[in-house]
Amino acid sequence: MKKVIIVTLAVSILISGLFANGQTDDGRKSIGIAMPETHVARWVTDGEALKANAEAMGYKAEVAFGDADQTKQNKQISDFITKGVDLIVVASINTGVNTALAEAAAEGIEIISYDRLLMDSADFNYYITFNLKKVGELQGKSIVDALDLDNSSEVKYISLFAGSPTDNNAYFFYDGAMEVLNPYITSGKLEVVGPYPVTSADKDNFNRIATEGWRAELAKERMENLLSGDAEEFVLDAVLAPNDPVGRAIIEACSNDSKYDTTAKLPIVTGQDGELATVQYIRDEKQHMTVFKDSRLLAKATIQLADSILRNTAIDVPGTVKTEFDTNLKMVETYLLTPILVTKENYEEVIIESGYYTADQIK
Ligand code: GAL
Repeated sequence: MKKVIIVTLAVSILISGLFANGQTDDGRKSIGIAMPETHVARWVTDGEALKANAEAMGYKAEVAFGDADQTKQNKQISDFITKGVDLIVVASINTGVNTALAEAAAEGIEIISYDRLLMDSADFNYYITFNLKKVGELQGKSIVDALDLDNSSEVKYISLFAGSPTDNNAYFFYDGAMEVLNPYITSGKLEVVGPYPVTSADKDNFNRIATEGWRAELAKERMENLLSGDAEEFVLDAVLAPNDPVGRAIIEACSNDSKYDTTAKLPIVTGQDGELATVQYIRDEKQHMTVFKDSRLLAKATIQLADSILRNTAIDVPGTVKTEFDTNLKMVETYLLTPILVTKENYEEVIIESGYYTADQIK
């Protein structure tokens, strides 16, 4: 019995030493990784990639998923702080995260805003993501090309969806796409069916096309309402969808409508994130495109940034363009990676040959 007590005591001392003062018992610094949710598959992939890259660079790393609940994510961040992490990578659910950021900053813990910009906070210094406006531009351009708007003489019809109004990224995605599409709407080549915010500055109409929490089920419900409402008298040629789950939800709603119940009759639907289910939809010609934001590259670049910060060395993040973004309270040093348009024509090269998914996974 005595031996069991001694072993238990030794193990508990070992575990308590893992994060004491940010140093694990073997001297490694530690990184907390706070991902927002798992109902959008890409965050699971990102969390895993961030942890793997951190450990490959000699750091202890722990990933937590907030399940789209900012209170839960705040508790996770507080737990990281209690464990003494040296740096926290955060993609938040909403600005409710700012109290947790302030707690981390008060402990001198550096924070990297990951993919989603942390808004209305001055408690961090770094942001890393893909070129947000370019994501939207690729979505808009893919519609122009697929509908051949530069050469078509017939009016084409489009409905518009945006991301979550709680996510600063959603405004950049939408404005990037509309900068491409607005000239075709103004010229009459493209007609909007349903609410039409010319830019995200039209908050009332933007909120009418936005998808709270990026919840695909809300997008499906809105698409069903469009089909039996504003779009009932039209045959839609395209739907601007901000990300893959919203795009697939729109396609599912259309597939249940006799006007669109074969692949050939579906509208052109956009997306982003290169999710596995969407790559399969692209292969099957259900979804027209996605914007590939290779999480392997984003995770590697993020940990390279973290490493420079933690070692207090000159920051060099290969494969990124350095700029700065405004949180409304301060300008933060920003590193942008380049997104890639993926369609039926190049998904095998970009997604499979690059090893992001295997051919078996796509089956
Ligand atoms: C955004 C992100 C998109 C998509 C969306 C839904 O913040 O930039 O790539 O993942 O969230 O989670």
